[in-house]
Amino acid sequence: MSTLKLAVIEGDGIGHEVVPEGLRVLAAALEGSDVTVETTPFDLGAGRWHRTGETLTDEDLERLAEHDAILLGAVGDPDVPSGVLERGMLLRLRFAFDQYVNLRPTRLFTGVSTPLQDPGQVDFLVVREGTEGPYVGNGGTLREGTKDEVATEVSLNTALGVERVVRYAFDQAAARRGHLTLVHKHNVLVHAGHLWRRIVEQVGAEYPQVSVDYAHVDAATIYLVTDPSRFDVIVTDNLFGDILTDLAGAIGGGIGLAASGNINPTGAFPSMFEPVHGSAPDIAGQGLADPTATVLSVALLLDHIGRADAAERVRRAVEQDLASRAGRPARSTAQIGTDLAEAVRGA
Ligand code: NAD
Ligand code: IPM
Ligand code: MN
Repeated sequence: MSTLKLAVIEGDGIGHEVVPEGLRVLAAALEGSDVTVETTPFDLGAGRWHRTGETLTDEDLERLAEHDAILLGAVGDPDVPSGVLERGMLLRLRFAFDQYVNLRPTRLFTGVSTPLQDPGQVDFLVVREGTEGPYVGNGGTLREGTKDEVATEVSLNTALGVERVVRYAFDQAAARRGHLTLVHKHNVLVHAGHLWRRIVEQVGAEYPQVSVDYAHVDAATIYLVTDPSRFDVIVTDNLFGDILTDLAGAIGGGIGLAASGNINPTGAFPSMFEPVHGSAPDIAGQGLADPTATVLSVALLLDHIGRADAAERVRRAVEQDLASRAGRPARSTAQIGTDLAEAVRGA
């Protein structure tokens, strides 16, 4: 018998609605197994900030670090200045726990409608760098509020940081269809771009079974829409990966289906699983949010803890659920979660 100590952060907006459904499905997937889930809720997000002015304290981090993994809903609230929670909580977590791999798979499940007319095979994995790039907060503002204001946001790219995520991406490609695409913009961002290019070339020499190509990020957005089957694994920096994976979500049938894992592959700190989407204030509190992205993030969590069989049952349940949606009335968040949990038990 083993125990999975899971920290649970619902966060804001629809985070409060989708996370309970993720937990419901997780419980169903591990029913009858030798794993017991022990959850600890963490009160983080807009509510806490309004009450205390805190986003994420050192003490929160210490307590979170005692867990095996984290399940997060979403952060961000229209009544909190933009960036306070996103940087102070979500990015702080990714950085403090050195979650340098942001794993974001896209697969177009049967029966799911996509905006693409002739999608072909849509089954690719974006390995987004998670702790560097323009996200590090290395910048500043001079002469704020004047006509002469200057703002900088410097992208940090280290050989160590790039190599470790590139290596992870090659491992993934070797275990999938053996193809890796580096997405960057080295025709303009010559410093960071060439570092990424060199490292992909160097690490690639160790993976003769993986074919490698390159696309500038602007062109990559074209190919994702016109010819997504060309992609197996995409490795890219933090900001390009953020943008590409919302597009990938749309291609894969909607952002309500897009899952992610913020992985610390060393195991030194907990990894964190969360839907790609945000707190969706426009639909929050109405039971309209699709919990499937969270449920598929739970499948990534199950993979991470070595329960690939349970993860597969969750994915099969999602596949059946999605296939049965056409022509049926829309269901509430809780109803989809309940149906998925039942399907997992039967899968
Ligand atoms: P969003 O992802 O919250 O919403 C974009 C659109 O997708 C909205 O129309 C929303 O209704 C829809 N949507 C999102 N999730 C859905 C779901 N599960 N089911 C159905 N529809 C869904 O992005 P946004 O509006 O740009 O940002 C809102 C807030 O969330 C901001 O504060 C932003 O900073 C934050 N944010 C947080 C995360 C995160 O926590 N990882 C990710 C993105 C945005
Ligand atoms: C995401 C979000 C975050 C990001 C924000 C909210 C910090 O957009 O998880 O994709 O940019 O990484
Ligand atoms: Mn995003």
